[in-house]
Amino acid sequence: MSNQHTSTPGVSVIGLGAMGSGIARTLIEGGCTVSVWNRSRAKVDALVATGAIGCNNPGDALNANSHVIVCVSDYAVWQQIIQEHSLASRFEDTCIIQLTTGTIDDVQTHASLIHDNGGRLVEGAVMCYPRNLGTDEAALLLSGAPDVLDECAHILSALDANWTSLGEDINQPSVLSRSLMSGLTGALMGLVNGAAICRAGGVPLDVFMKFNEGTNSILLAEQRRLIEAIRDGRTEENEASIKAWREGNQALNSVAASLGTDLTLQNAIQAVFQEGRRRGLDEHDLSALVDVFDPASDR
Ligand SMILES: NC(=O)c1ccc[n+]([C@@H]2O[C@H](COP(=O)([O-])OP(=O)(O)OC[C@H]3O[C@@H](n4cnc5c(N)ncnc54)[C@H](OP(=O)(O)O)[C@@H]3O)[C@@H](O)[C@H]2O)c1
Repeated sequence: MSNQHTSTPGVSVIGLGAMGSGIARTLIEGGCTVSVWNRSRAKVDALVATGAIGCNNPGDALNANSHVIVCVSDYAVWQQIIQEHSLASRFEDTCIIQLTTGTIDDVQTHASLIHDNGGRLVEGAVMCYPRNLGTDEAALLLSGAPDVLDECAHILSALDANWTSLGEDINQPSVLSRSLMSGLTGALMGLVNGAAICRAGGVPLDVFMKFNEGTNSILLAEQRRLIEAIRDGRTEENEASIKAWREGNQALNSVAASLGTDLTLQNAIQAVFQEGRRRGLDEHDLSALVDVFDPASDR
């Protein structure tokens, strides 16, 4: 196969796990001609049944289109695929849209490889489930040179009509998506921990759910207030000091200990509060803990 540098919206997808299959399906539904490759052939065949063109190896997928989406488990897997199939020399004049989750090191090493071999790169992170692609809930965070993002706009728009460009710094999708994950993971782990404590203490989970929904409306406003306080350097004003939060968490620890639930999460949170106290932040707002998490900051 040779590169078809035409104006038809042809795109290849390498990696057909949950996310890659969702990407390929959404692109097909959006009217793109989609060539696909995956290590396990069954996933290729399932996509071919819905209109994709199956490729026998990743080199064929690279050659089939000038725009190639990569979405595999991690960058080590992609590097392995590149080596096993001698793909490096095939990146010339190809635009790789990299949607695999990666570290800053991964992203930098990969960008050098693509550019050194004459390719173009859009670096991205997906912040939604596969089922959200192509809907208002889709969230693609992307960076790259403006002209490269422009040439990919028709593909990106089929996945997320409101895709976000974070500019030319290719680290930004990783940094932003992992920061958002920090908020999500913390909130959801805290919720599951709370459910465990309710269950152990005999509070019906329906009651927990009802009151949790009540606190959610406060949470959104509080999240916004915390970010604005950090942005504006107003981390002293507060309605509830770090000391009050620390004591509340200590009481939670005692309740959990009495009920015999695991204390790992509370202990980790308590360690953050203790570090805040050591730094003299006890009377400050919760937002002041940003200096515990980012101690080297003069920003
Ligand atoms: N799923 C989500 O909701 C979601 C959300 C946001 C971001 N993401 C990101 O999207 C990326 C893909 O996630 P996923 O959910 O699609 O994962 P997944 O369902 O586990 O799929 C993993 C993909 O990587 C391939 N792969 C793994 N090891 C390989 C190897 N040694 N050689 C060749 N191919 C290999 C798999 O091929 P086989 O089919 O042959 O195993 C499959 O295509 C990840 O970076 C993930 O962080 C996923």
